[in-house]
Amino acid sequence: MRVVVIGGSGHVGTFLVPRLVEAGYEVVSVSRGRREPYRADPAWRSVEQVTLDREAEEAGGTFGERVAKLEPDAVIDMICFTPESASQMVESLRGKLRHFLHCGTIWVHGHSTLVPATEDLPRHPFGEYGIQKARIEAYLLDEARRGGFPATLLHPGHIVGPGWAPVNPAGNFDPRVFERLARGEQLSLPNLGMETVHHVHADDVAQAFVRALDNWGAAVGESFHVVSPAALTLRGYAEAVAGWFGKTASLRFTSWEEWREGVSEEEARGTWDHIAHSPNCSIAKARRLLDYQPRYSSLEAVRESLGWLIEHGEVEAEWKTGISS
Ligand SMILES: NC(=O)c1ccc[n+]([C@@H]2O[C@H](COP(=O)([O-])OP(=O)(O)OC[C@H]3O[C@@H](n4cnc5c(N)ncnc54)[C@H](OP(=O)(O)O)[C@@H]3O)[C@@H](O)[C@H]2O)c1
Repeated sequence: MRVVVIGGSGHVGTFLVPRLVEAGYEVVSVSRGRREPYRADPAWRSVEQVTLDREAEEAGGTFGERVAKLEPDAVIDMICFTPESASQMVESLRGKLRHFLHCGTIWVHGHSTLVPATEDLPRHPFGEYGIQKARIEAYLLDEARRGGFPATLLHPGHIVGPGWAPVNPAGNFDPRVFERLARGEQLSLPNLGMETVHHVHADDVAQAFVRALDNWGAAVGESFHVVSPAALTLRGYAEAVAGWFGKTASLRFTSWEEWREGVSEEEARGTWDHIAHSPNCSIAKARRLLDYQPRYSSLEAVRESLGWLIEHGEVEAEWKTGISS
C-alpha cells in the first residue's frame, strides 16, 4: 500500500515515516525540502521524497492534482490549516483513495467543559487556528459520513520529542522556566497553577496514524484524540520538573494580570493560549477502536525532550544523580 505523507519531515513525520516503512508501507514524503527530520533513520533510504510547495501549488489550484498523480492508496495530511485546503484534497482525491488521514488538534474543542473531554462533545473553538481546524473537522466528517470520502482525523495535544522545546510548566516555550526549577529558584505561575496542559510524544502520534491506517473500518468517518494518558496541571508539572533536579518547587501564585507583567508579550500569549484552553482529553476512543497504546506519559515525554535540550546546551541544568533522560 502506497502512503503519501504531506509534511513528512517534521515533528511527527520524523517518527511516522520510519514507522510506516517498518510496517511495510511504500512511503512518499512531500515537503519543500527545506528541513531534515529531527532524527536520522535508515528507513528514509527507501522513502520517495517529492519536493512541492503546497502554498504555491494551492494558489495555482494544482496541489490536489499533484498529490493525486503520486497515485496514493492513502494520504496523511500533516499540514492542512483551512477548509479550502482540505477541499482541494477531497475534490482531487475523491474516488481514488482508500484512506485520507488529517492531522488536526485538540484546539478544536476550545475551552474544556466536561473533562476528560471526549471526541463527541460540542465544539467551542476560539482563535483562528482552532476555529479553522474545527471547520476542517466538520467538513471532512461530513464528506466521510455523507459523501463516502474515507477521512479520519487525529487530534494531537502538545507534541513533544527530542530536538525541540516542549510546552513548559508556565504554559509557554521559554526554556529558562526549566532552568529556574532546576536551580530551585522561585517560579511564578498564574492563578492557582491548576490549569492544564496535555502533551503527547511525537512517536505516540506516529503510532496512532499507523494504527488508524491498520484499522480502516473503525477509523473512517471518525476523529480521535491523540494525547498522553493524562493531562498535567501547571503546578504538578512544575513540582515534577523540580524533583528531577533534586529540588522542591518554590512556586508563587499571582493573578493573571500581575503574572503577565513579569513576562514578555510572546510568553504571555503562549501561556494564555494554553491556560484558556486548559486541555484535558480522553484517549478511551483511540484505545478502544485503534488499539492506541501511548508509550509515554506526559512527564516521560517531557523528560526525554528536556534531556535533549540539556545535552545540546539549550537548557543549562544538571540532572540529580541517578536520574537522566
Ligand atoms: N506542534 C504541536 O504541538 C501540534 C499540536 C497539535 C496539532 N498539531 C498539528 O500538527 C501538524 C503539524 O505537524 P508537525 O508538527 O509534525 O509539522 P512540522 O514539524 O511543522 O513540519 C511541517 C512539515 O511540512 C513541511 N512543509 C511546511 N510547509 C510546507 C509547504 N508549504 N509545502 C510543502 N511542505 C511543507 C515541512 O518541511 P519543509 O519545511 O522542508 O517544507 C515539514 O515536513 C499540524 O496539522 C498541526 O495543526 C501540532
